[in-house]
Amino acid sequence: MKIDILLGLQWGDEGKGKIVDALTPEYDVIARFQGGPNAGHTIEFNNTKHVLHLIPSGIFHEGKINIIGNGLVIDPVVFRHEVESLGISIDQVRERLLISAKAHMILPTHKLLDAAQEATLGELKIGSTLRGIGPAYSDKTSRNGLRVGDLFRKEFREIYSSRVKEHTRALMGYGYSNDMSALEEEWLESVEYLKQFTTVNADYYLYTSLLRGKRILAEGAQGTMLDIDFGTYPFVTSSNTVAAGACTGLGMAPSRTGEVFGIFKAYCTRVGSGPFPTELDDEYGQMMRDRGNEYGSTTGRPRRCGWLDLPALKYAIMVNGVTRLFMMKADVLSGFDEIRVCRSYQVNGAEVTELPYCLGDIEGLNYQFFPGWQNDITGCLGWDEVPPALKGYVEYIEKETGVPVTIVSVGPDRSATIYR
Ligand code: GDP
Ligand code: IMO
Ligand code: MG
Repeated sequence: MKIDILLGLQWGDEGKGKIVDALTPEYDVIARFQGGPNAGHTIEFNNTKHVLHLIPSGIFHEGKINIIGNGLVIDPVVFRHEVESLGISIDQVRERLLISAKAHMILPTHKLLDAAQEATLGELKIGSTLRGIGPAYSDKTSRNGLRVGDLFRKEFREIYSSRVKEHTRALMGYGYSNDMSALEEEWLESVEYLKQFTTVNADYYLYTSLLRGKRILAEGAQGTMLDIDFGTYPFVTSSNTVAAGACTGLGMAPSRTGEVFGIFKAYCTRVGSGPFPTELDDEYGQMMRDRGNEYGSTTGRPRRCGWLDLPALKYAIMVNGVTRLFMMKADVLSGFDEIRVCRSYQVNGAEVTELPYCLGDIEGLNYQFFPGWQNDITGCLGWDEVPPALKGYVEYIEKETGVPVTIVSVGPDRSATIYR
């Protein structure tokens, strides 16, 4: 048996939550492999909307196991709020959720450090979600992290205090001197709450599940263009969002990789700072934002919007080894008189289809034009019902990328999903 991987191919918010939830009936285990509460994965069904930050998107299905992998950084305060707002009982969540003992913890001081570092960067700030992601992953790689497994060790308070002492010194360097006792108290209470959930050696759990023939789906957060190595560095997140991140974030051998499902929007969005070649600062961009409700699921910030960027999409397909594409939010493009796709860039006066090292070197964009379609497609149940103009758009993407588009999503609800 193999593990299938589902991940974002753009700058995050492609609709991963919706599709993981929709595919969960086909799997036994859903395992998140990286990121933390910077993620906001939205799921809609029965006229209710849920936004998940840490908990894998299979949690609403009875009888399925959801794993928070070692590649994540967990804020226990966010975790607690999330469990309490799921609308399912804590006992049900405890039955369905396992946490890797090797996952790292976000301390209250990590969040303060995130804010202090962003403030110091001024105009050059990353536009972080201020959830403490960067400082927590920095501590992980500099071997100063605190892991979930440490919460159960007698040395826990000692390790915690030494980390906080270190962070406090750094914070003082940034001029921060507020009393942290309330934050600390809430965090320690939330740690006790978290300890009620089952902590496991998730690597062994996944391996033995595979041997028993269980079907496993690895769920990514963020997107390829936010990957720490392959994204638009330094305007990225602090983890490997690509398929290889599923191996390190779950303890999965590369030879166990099954299908790699790459999700992309029919256009592009980005929240936070950093280059975005196809960004639209005009009425088309505003139309995408309004119709697509493009406001961050975690921070509520307006998302920057633009046309689909084919060189960037092809790059993401390449580094992830995508075997199937899922196109999201096709309905948002209904009503546009014309639709564009960037097929190449101008760099140093030449037409190129490779992403340059620095996206700031792009001097111009070459577009492919498509006719729009006017009818609302949210109610379309099958591929034969969609307008010919949308079919042409999807077929162009398939031809250019060489990868089949097997799902086209036409609305936020679980049911608004066309399987081709
Ligand atoms: P994620 O981070 O990749 O899980 O994506 P988000 O949940 O942050 O953002 C995607 C947004 O688009 C959410 O508000 C979803 O409810 C919504 N959404 C997902 N698929 C579709 C779709 O096909 N059409 C429309 N109109 N909205 C969608
Ligand atoms: P999901 O999983 C969109 C962006 C932030 C910022 C940069 C670094 O919902 O797709 P961080 O807080 O990680 O240090 O922020 O990355 N970012 C996201 N953008 N969707 C996300 O997650 C994101 N997680 C982080 O806006 O630009
Ligand atoms: Mg999101």
